[in-house]
Amino acid sequence: MCGIVGYVGPKEAVSFLLAGMEKLEYRGYDSAGIAMLEKGEIRIEKSVGRLSFLEKIINQNKEKLTGTIGIGHTRWATHGRPSTINSHPHTDCDGNFVVVHNGIIENYQSLKEMLIERGHIFKSETDTEVVAHLLEELYDGDFLTAVQKTLRKLEGSYALVFLSKYQPDTIICSKKDNPLIIGLGDGENFVASDIPAIISHTRKTYILGDNETAVVTKDNVKVLDYRGVPVKKKIFEVEWDAQAAEKGGYEHFMLKEIYEQPKAIRDTMSGRIAKDNSKIVLEELNFSVEDINDIERIVIVACGTAYHAGMVGKYLLEKFARMPVEVEIASEFRYKDPIVNEKTLAIIISQSGETIDTLAAMKEAKKLGAKTLAITNVVSSSIAREADKVIYTWAGPEIAVASTKAYTTQLIVVTLLAIYFAQIKNTLSKEEIKELCQGLKFLPEQINDVLEEISPIKTFSKQYGFNENIFFIGRALDYAVALEGSLKLKEISYVHAEAYAAGELKHGTLALVVKEVPVIALATQEDVYDKMISNIKEVKAREAVVIGVAFQDDQEIEKHVDHVIRIPRANKFLTHVLSVVPLQLLAYFVAVTRGCDVDKPRNLAKSVTVE
Ligand code: G6P
Repeated sequence: MCGIVGYVGPKEAVSFLLAGMEKLEYRGYDSAGIAMLEKGEIRIEKSVGRLSFLEKIINQNKEKLTGTIGIGHTRWATHGRPSTINSHPHTDCDGNFVVVHNGIIENYQSLKEMLIERGHIFKSETDTEVVAHLLEELYDGDFLTAVQKTLRKLEGSYALVFLSKYQPDTIICSKKDNPLIIGLGDGENFVASDIPAIISHTRKTYILGDNETAVVTKDNVKVLDYRGVPVKKKIFEVEWDAQAAEKGGYEHFMLKEIYEQPKAIRDTMSGRIAKDNSKIVLEELNFSVEDINDIERIVIVACGTAYHAGMVGKYLLEKFARMPVEVEIASEFRYKDPIVNEKTLAIIISQSGETIDTLAAMKEAKKLGAKTLAITNVVSSSIAREADKVIYTWAGPEIAVASTKAYTTQLIVVTLLAIYFAQIKNTLSKEEIKELCQGLKFLPEQINDVLEEISPIKTFSKQYGFNENIFFIGRALDYAVALEGSLKLKEISYVHAEAYAAGELKHGTLALVVKEVPVIALATQEDVYDKMISNIKEVKAREAVVIGVAFQDDQEIEKHVDHVIRIPRANKFLTHVLSVVPLQLLAYFVAVTRGCDVDKPRNLAKSVTVE
């Protein structure tokens, strides 16, 4: 998975390319490169490492890059280690064509062997390089025809952008299963993997569909389908504020996004809870009693943080609507011969709407006859477009690799959904629904309260942040939160963190809990509170240092733990939205204390468009 940009217009392309790539670095950042057409020749600059290394090389260049048409790429290695040679763009033998790619060419090995046999010389270890050589092999006087012939030979997933010195005013690009958008300017046009790269230039975009190819010049964009027949594309107007994709005074995007949660949650709930708190309104679903009764089982499919939101979804859907729910990791679901049919509702949760495992799992569920409902943050993303129904989280752009506001808005949506199903099925009373609706509306303010109390969390981060092992325990909804808290810590601070259902700890993992090992114990679930206290005693007996996460008015907890992080009291089915916030902050401050690159943790990327 990688970030791609392209520019054609009257200006020097290099500044747009570098700025656009910076906005897409969340998609991968182990190397970067650009290619430009200048005086009829292709010029390439690339470098292993962060984009800033490439920028340095370009700035130190005696001969400035002046081309007005170019492409750029920021890489997350799949085939071939991160190195300057493996970084994109890649060219054919004679340097007549150049290509950048996001995705994986699955049949590259056989194509490479065939091309080597025909005399092509390869420079890199990448799958992408075959595309450039294939283009060279199939070129017969027309750039577009050669691209179309090349695409027909490729298996796998791709967003590809090509330049050729045979047609120096034209960018050609195409996609299958990886995102690509065209930004429509005035006398200039842009290509990018995602909106933040182009938003400061234009809000008018075409979102390319699978197997569509676009021929882009400065004054024109022509989109063709897989047969080469022109497609009439609808312009998609981006409605975000460009500011929303900037850091706005915070040291890191992650911190900014943590602080944006009250607003993100408010926006996500807006219009979805009746003014009098009597019901949930999800106009985008419009399910009838028959539709709901027709669902025999729900399967929630997601990856990473979104999977943890799915676990909360399972708990609440079962509790409120009494419907059987399974939660599956998308990369497992697809290959396990899942039991899914027309009576299954598949709920797909994905911040980006582009995670390839999740997308593929959704396609599989659809193929087996399931109805699909996507929960995503990105309008018109692949998952949003493929699903039968979509509920958007209105978190705004999330840039930090570690998901925070997208996660809490997913929690809101799964909670709304569970209440919505329950109200149709009559499995919650009017009073219960009202109480939940009121409770939901309090949440933004309550998160603000948590965000005002960060100094103990900072202190704990300094005190315990250098431990190599940290445990998280909880029961019921607290267990899902524990999983998310431990993932956050692993992702950005590289601390080994394990989350356990508190009652399960004694079945093995307790052996790892020794003197002074920090254990974060969530104790917000009143139904199992006493059991949780017993579990805390078990770890205290092994001399662990326990940090409890508990309600402000809980006076019992302090008798059993070393420190307490307080959260406002909330409805017992809504505490998960609050208790995760201190854990996000803990992960953040530990990462800062340890000097980690918070927004771009090693080996990870925001949008994982490879399997
Ligand atoms: C990556 C990100 C995670 C994210 C996961 C699923 O691993 O680093 O933060 O939770 O992908 O992403 P999605 O966009 O499908 O929610």
